[in-house]
Amino acid sequence: MADMVTIYLDDVEHKVAKGANLVDVAKALNNDIPVFCYHPKMEPVGMCRMCLVELGGVQVDKDTKAIQVDASGKPVVRWQPKLATACTTTVSEGMTIRTSSKMVVDARDDVIEFLLTSHPLDCPICDKGGECPLQNLTLRHGPGTSRFDYNDKMHLDKHYPLGDLIFLDRERCIQCARCTRFQDEIVGDDVLAFHERGRALQIVTVSDPPFDTYFSGNTTDICPVGALTTADFRFGARPWELTEVPSICPHCPVGCNVSASTRQDRDAGGKVVVKRIMPRQNEAVNEIWICDKGRFGHHHSRAEDRLTRPLIRQNGKLVTATWESALSLIAEKVAAAGENVAAIAGPMLSNEDLFELRRLIEGANSHSLGLWPANMTGGALVEQVGVGGGTNFTDMGKGTTIVVIASNLEEEAPVWYLRVKGAAKRGARLIVANARPTETDRWTWGANHVRYAYGDEAATLSGLKDQIGETQNLVIIVGGEGLDRARHGDLMQAAANLLIETGHVGKPNNGLLPVWPGANTQGALDMGFTSEATEAILSSAPGVLFAADADLIGDGANMTSKAGFTVAVEMFLTPTAAAADVVLPRLSFVERDGSFTNGERRVQRFYLAQAPIGEARPDWKAFAEMGQKLGGAKAKLSAAAVMGDITKAVPRYADMSYPNLARVEKQVPDVGSENLYYGGTAYDNHGGLGVQWKVASENGANAAGSASVPASAPAAGLARPNPENGEYLIVPVRELYDRQPEFNASRALMGTHIDQPYAILNTADANRLGIVHGDRIAVSFGSATLEADARVDAASPAGVIILPRHLSDVPTPAVPVTGGVKKVEALVNVPNH
Ligand code: SF4
Ligand code: SF4
Ligand code: FES
Repeated sequence: MADMVTIYLDDVEHKVAKGANLVDVAKALNNDIPVFCYHPKMEPVGMCRMCLVELGGVQVDKDTKAIQVDASGKPVVRWQPKLATACTTTVSEGMTIRTSSKMVVDARDDVIEFLLTSHPLDCPICDKGGECPLQNLTLRHGPGTSRFDYNDKMHLDKHYPLGDLIFLDRERCIQCARCTRFQDEIVGDDVLAFHERGRALQIVTVSDPPFDTYFSGNTTDICPVGALTTADFRFGARPWELTEVPSICPHCPVGCNVSASTRQDRDAGGKVVVKRIMPRQNEAVNEIWICDKGRFGHHHSRAEDRLTRPLIRQNGKLVTATWESALSLIAEKVAAAGENVAAIAGPMLSNEDLFELRRLIEGANSHSLGLWPANMTGGALVEQVGVGGGTNFTDMGKGTTIVVIASNLEEEAPVWYLRVKGAAKRGARLIVANARPTETDRWTWGANHVRYAYGDEAATLSGLKDQIGETQNLVIIVGGEGLDRARHGDLMQAAANLLIETGHVGKPNNGLLPVWPGANTQGALDMGFTSEATEAILSSAPGVLFAADADLIGDGANMTSKAGFTVAVEMFLTPTAAAADVVLPRLSFVERDGSFTNGERRVQRFYLAQAPIGEARPDWKAFAEMGQKLGGAKAKLSAAAVMGDITKAVPRYADMSYPNLARVEKQVPDVGSENLYYGGTAYDNHGGLGVQWKVASENGANAAGSASVPASAPAAGLARPNPENGEYLIVPVRELYDRQPEFNASRALMGTHIDQPYAILNTADANRLGIVHGDRIAVSFGSATLEADARVDAASPAGVIILPRHLSDVPTPAVPVTGGVKKVEALVNVPNH
């Protein structure tokens, strides 16, 4: 327990943690000291003076150093001659604080009056109106009138684009530096700065392209005025018109808690639609942050090219059909296929969808349940040594070692990247192992960068044992970059072995954390879907194949045979859907309710927020109705009821009833609603903090390691091509912003952020091929050729072409392949030497 001290806050005695920040301490004691520049997630800077208080220390006897006390036994107070900023004060024994004396009240009044001399009075048209700390604190603490003349106000640019996602109203900025400090301290992308001096002081972007970061939207949440607004929401609605619906971001395994701000909208024909996505506080998952993909990547929910009705292939063409006819046709085909029925499920299916799909397949006596993408494995290892319950990056610092291997974390799980960075900044030791440079290479403090050759991942991790040495906590974060399923299995096993051998299992802040490819890959594993089954399905010829949120063709699956009858369940007409026999339209995450299980095994609920598009239905319902047609149980009426069945059928989900998942508790720091001035516009969590299932090592099981990790040789399957013969190892990698339909639908907003297809090659290879940075090149693998812009990088591994996936229409395989490269077109105006 922390050392406690006694303080006197407005004459009331309290025992509080020694050294805690005075604003935070007062807040916890229900005394709201107003702040503008202070933010509980950042270092205090004492810039705005809004938090001024009277401060007294204890009188100490000069000779004996004893604290002097008065007749009542209270310490004699030695008041400071001037008011002090509470945000830069930490509490100590005997500290006495006055937060409501005349001196303090007058000072707050003056600070607000002074701030308003430079602030435009455009609240009626300001996006922040209704959720603005300056408005709220002015009403609570400001003067009724001003001594200044409105005409003396300085006028500055009002709609200045800081990038194409964020606009700055320079007049409204109160120069609190929350935005610059967020980018610097929390993200490490130092892309904003102050420019000029005095009243002309203004925020500018110092990056090219402007405001170049994945986390820009968070600055609009913590800006205490309407100076920063998003291009997505500006002038979109007033906060009091919005209904907040708890949801979960569907884009990556972090499972950020978000709030969908909805409104009945004229432009949507009077339907209720999502107007914006905001962060929802969950200190164990995303704290109060989300990345820009989560914030702005929701436009697929109302995209015009969404599938709205079932399609059936007739005379070689897909034609619209009723649900009844589509489901009847599928049921007929399933009945005829006997046991030869299979399903491959993608990462956006909810647990309820997956369970009903499994029930449908198992109803046909088949257990062919494949997972998509299929290059990662190791669900059984997570079951043994996954990170312990209560693991929280916020609690990690000195004494913790975090290993990140085979992952470009910022691209694959942005908020984990942010939180790992935070842990490293608090003193955690960070080891980043990858075959190529990634964003984490910018982290200089506490980071140890390890390079290996593709194929040596497992051996490299095993070899880290000596480096890790004595550490109190150890978390190993394992990605899938450059790995096929077999080698990913080896790497996961090596991670599990290391954790077991060093005793870092079964407790909080220790264990294995896989960077799964999607929001609910963990849920799919929990429901029995595996990548091993996918391989078997793709190399066989099932009579009926369900490809649910699995664009096998578009993702470059190696399909050696064709299913007799394919049912695609999709939101968009993907290449797999276009080739299917029946297509069923899916609902987006905001048009239905359900649950996802994040990479930390936390099962979390999302809720119905927006009117469903067309005739699309929840997947679980479609699968259950098919099952019913085949003689199975009557379809459940709600996702909650399906979860009820899951709690009985899947032991690790026994506690995951919807009421349990919806439980909330007070979080620290307490931000949101009444506390906008303190933490920003992240929303309170009313939707549930979720429940994490326990791994075997937490339950006391003996998690014995396997000694099967290869010592050095690459696992079978990874050929090392010879560049001298024109052969290269093409390594596909994941990018946060890509052209997959769920994100591509936000192109109108984020189009410039999605890269044109590009490939990275090493300088020596580029020289050999006569390629310079910017040339147009053709990368070929198998029978496919993809054109891309060349990026030449001396630090990129030799003999390897790094190829981001999903930037082009040409399907790129998920695993490394051998291929060739050649120049197609020289960069215009640049001499080729
Ligand atoms: Fe503060 Fe907002 Fe100005 Fe940034 S733009 S300094 S967050 S008021
Ligand atoms: Fe969504 Fe992942 Fe970004 Fe969180 S980090 S907002 S889950 S994409
Ligand atoms: Fe304390 Fe700004 S000086 S909140």
